[in-house]
Amino acid sequence: MNADRTPLLVVEGLTKSYYHLGREVPVLKGVDVTLAPGEMLAVVGKSGVGKSTFLHVAGTLDRPTAGHVLYDGTDVFERPDDELARFRNRHLGFVFQFHHLLPEFNALENVMMPALLGRLGLSEAERRAGLLLEQVGLSHRLTHRPGELSGGEQQRVAIARALVMQPRILFADEPTGNLDERTSEDVHELLFRLNRELSIALVIVTHNFTLAGRMGRCLMMRDGRMESVPAEQT
Ligand SMILES: Nc1ncnc2c1ncn2[C@@H]1O[C@H](COP(=O)(O)OP(=O)(O)O)[C@@H](O)[C@H]1O
Ligand SMILES: [Mg+2]
Repeated sequence: MNADRTPLLVVEGLTKSYYHLGREVPVLKGVDVTLAPGEMLAVVGKSGVGKSTFLHVAGTLDRPTAGHVLYDGTDVFERPDDELARFRNRHLGFVFQFHHLLPEFNALENVMMPALLGRLGLSEAERRAGLLLEQVGLSHRLTHRPGELSGGEQQRVAIARALVMQPRILFADEPTGNLDERTSEDVHELLFRLNRELSIALVIVTHNFTLAGRMGRCLMMRDGRMESVPAEQT
């Protein structure tokens, strides 16, 4: 196979159960997804259906019960936890519904954090963080702490933080679920621009059908599996 055609991400027969009070809670019951480099994928579905669980396992934040997650053809769960953490830091970016910024650090420091954990060095971390905050339109807010930023600004800092290690894929879990319509649109535009200009693949869980309709491909989670949604229905 031509190396360029190798999918960025292949999720194969993925199952995930939680165990609660000694009982199995099956959530993912055989999910198959393939993502090409630079592709945009929306994931929709009812609350509680397993969208966040899918994102966490596909994003290597949690291990599957069964099945495989391959990046560039390699099964990442064959690696021990510390190697997996390094892989995640280096190649994957995450944005959650709640920004999860560290309250005692300012915008610049928050964005620098993954780069420092990835041992990039202070000056390189600062250089990248400054550039990214400029790209998300926040160069005038570098020294503001999260509590001194608006909801939209906090989410833009979170996006900049997710990109500081220059990941090939960005996972976003209802990234604009807490923002007003206008601010949501700004954040969506930002994500599309990052996809276009940096070729970052996007996997976005959303309840926003306008966003889902613009993402190229949309999958609906139902009863622990993924169903494709024809473009005209999004
Ligand atoms: N740590 C956990 N232990 C037990 N059950 C869980 C845990 N996390 C999530 N669940 C259950 O798994 C299901 C899927 O959750 P989630 O992936 O967060 O759904 P969604 O993001 O689609 O709303 C829910 O029914 C939830 O209650
Ligand atoms: Mg969720």
